[in-house]
Amino acid sequence: MKALKLNNLPKPFFILAPMDDVTDTVFRQIIGSLAPPDVYFTEFVNVDGLQSPGREKLLPKLQFTEKERPIIAQIWGKNPENFYKTAKELVQMGFDGIDLNFGCPDKTVIKNGCCIALVNNRGLAGEIIQAAREGAGTSLPLSVKTRLGLSEIDYTWHEFLLKYKLNMLSIHGRTAKQMSRVPADWHAIEHIRKLRDTLSPATLIVGNGDVMNRAQGEKLAKKHKLDGIMIGRGVFSDPFAFAPLSSGKSPWEQWSKKQKIELYKKHVELFAKTWAHGESKLHTLNKFCKIYVNDFDGAKELREQLMQAKTIEELLGMLK
Ligand SMILES: Cc1cc2nc3c(=O)[nH]c(=O)nc-3n(C[C@H](O)[C@H](O)[C@H](O)COP(=O)(O)O)c2cc1C
Repeated sequence: MKALKLNNLPKPFFILAPMDDVTDTVFRQIIGSLAPPDVYFTEFVNVDGLQSPGREKLLPKLQFTEKERPIIAQIWGKNPENFYKTAKELVQMGFDGIDLNFGCPDKTVIKNGCCIALVNNRGLAGEIIQAAREGAGTSLPLSVKTRLGLSEIDYTWHEFLLKYKLNMLSIHGRTAKQMSRVPADWHAIEHIRKLRDTLSPATLIVGNGDVMNRAQGEKLAKKHKLDGIMIGRGVFSDPFAFAPLSSGKSPWEQWSKKQKIELYKKHVELFAKTWAHGESKLHTLNKFCKIYVNDFDGAKELREQLMQAKTIEELLGMLK
């Protein structure tokens, strides 16, 4: 098994952001077939759940194919012992890296003291990093994805994280309180990059928030001297978000109605094949329907019709 050599990535490198219930193996393969990012992340997976009888239900989130490499598994949770055990398993499963989600702003998650709530529990945050590092051994890079702070920007949090000499630190440029309501603060991300320059020069800094495509990401990386850029929701409006835009236009803008519907059909077929035992529910396809069946005459009406389908067979019949 080959470990991800983060330093061999292009500069800047581009990551497909982890998005729960969106970036599963199926969607990652679709994005990869159009314009691949340099690195993929899984959706976040709870280590306490993975080390419990509920494990089987979570395993599909860790499914991947060789086409989606390099791939980093993103984990979250509360119990350092479970981070240790899970990290060991992720090495066995053949992942290229492990990322700790220290950024999720979900109210229940925060109430439970996980993810971004760790800003206020640095003892536990440190134990989690150490446990994951021990579990991963020397073979896998360890990274953290976080925000600017809980309710305020708190650079002491990033200083704290940088002291652990992580291989990579991804920053979503908002506080948890801001959710996604304000524009991402790229100057704050740059400030953290400067902290990195003195505290942990080998840690790669990845900026994240509101980047729509590679061209915009390249400009931001250059301006703020960042190593990498992570794009999430940008793929909703343009599945070719990672394409090099030499002509200035995305291929998506030129795609016909027929091509878009064909792509949705391809997604549904891959979904049916991958989740043949009901691991993912039919309604999760609706958000992808909005991506593909869009921006052509009659798209809204067709979407409404497609979303009525009660079974995969019915949906595929409609798409034919
Ligand atoms: C539907 C959805 C699910 C998300 N799930 C995760 C997740 O599992 N792990 C994580 O670190 N961030 C998650 N995020 C946050 C994104 O990774 C990213 O940080 C955020 O959307 C900002 O980047 P963007 O403006 O490029 O989308 C999620 C975001 C969305 C919209």
